[in-house]
Amino acid sequence: MSLETILVTGGAGFVGSHACKALAAAGYLPVSYDNLSNGHQDAVKWGPLITADLLDQSALAAAFTAYKPCAVMHFAGLIEAGLSVREPARFERQNVAGSAALLAAMQAHQVNKLVFSSSAAVYGAPQQVTITEDHPRQPANPYGQNKADIEDLLTGASEQGALRFCALRYFNAAGADPDGELGERHDPETHLIPLVIQAAFGHRPLAIYGTDYETVDGTCVRDYVHVSDLADAHVAAVQRLLAGGPNLVANLGSGDGYSVQQIIAATERLTGQTINPLHAARRQGDVAHLVANSALAEASLAWQATRSSLDQIISDAIAAQKRFVIQPQ
Ligand code: UFG
Repeated sequence: MSLETILVTGGAGFVGSHACKALAAAGYLPVSYDNLSNGHQDAVKWGPLITADLLDQSALAAAFTAYKPCAVMHFAGLIEAGLSVREPARFERQNVAGSAALLAAMQAHQVNKLVFSSSAAVYGAPQQVTITEDHPRQPANPYGQNKADIEDLLTGASEQGALRFCALRYFNAAGADPDGELGERHDPETHLIPLVIQAAFGHRPLAIYGTDYETVDGTCVRDYVHVSDLADAHVAAVQRLLAGGPNLVANLGSGDGYSVQQIIAATERLTGQTINPLHAARRQGDVAHLVANSALAEASLAWQATRSSLDQIISDAIAAQKRFVIQPQ
């Protein structure tokens, strides 16, 4: 029996590679399509890799012709919100024009099911304590605007009858594959948890961006969700589409918020190391408190964030940092 094939753009990246592993475990063949600008070739372990850019029309067409995917998972894109403020045109081209090219290729090859990696960045500054999907979309940076614009492209294609889609708005993706096969390897790394772990092991200094927020201890509160839980949600989303289910736009988070100080304290406890962070100014574009209400995803995808306790996330991240970053083998 031939496996059902899913084309995974950004399949060599952090969330994309974990999704490929989950797809393979669920019986699908993930075909990764990645330009390797940020992804890692050795993270593609469960299916073929096509090394190409979304803006390369002929490579994209060839991928659809060769592999005849039944659906697409779309992770590929530039992800650094801070960089997007400095290079908005590049972000617009790579993220929005890249997604439009993907949609055009899907249409040309009669593939009409898409799971899209959206982001809590579409919301901007929160107007409520936990965020539901009906919260206004007011992105605070070009990256978040790109994600909102892509969601609108999907809605437009769907209204024309060309597409059914799930857009999953994740909060702070963190952790790593519990089996140790994959990790978080951004270069440069900008995400808090890997940076705190690297600081714990003396790999680099750590700065806390802002200690005067109106939160429990003055530092920013975020909702950290385990990357394996995100991967499971993507598989459930593609299965919902393959079973004929309707569009879905849903948050993915743990529902729990932790401050930067709480992340540091938990990492000190789990590593047995002491961290002496510097206190730096607020980072532009940061909001004080961002926590998800994921009830819609739980109900629509029969999904639970089962691995997203803070200790589990940090423990899995420590193992991955030791394997891939701190002592690379
Ligand atoms: N932080 C520090 N020091 C650091 C790095 C981060 O204090 O060296 C703080 C930030 O100020 C923030 C928190 O740690 O308050 C988390 O920062 P991250 O950079 O890890 O994550 P963000 O919340 O800024 O952004 C993440 C993703 C985005 C996504 C967003 C959605 O990186 O791509 O979540 O909520 F859009």
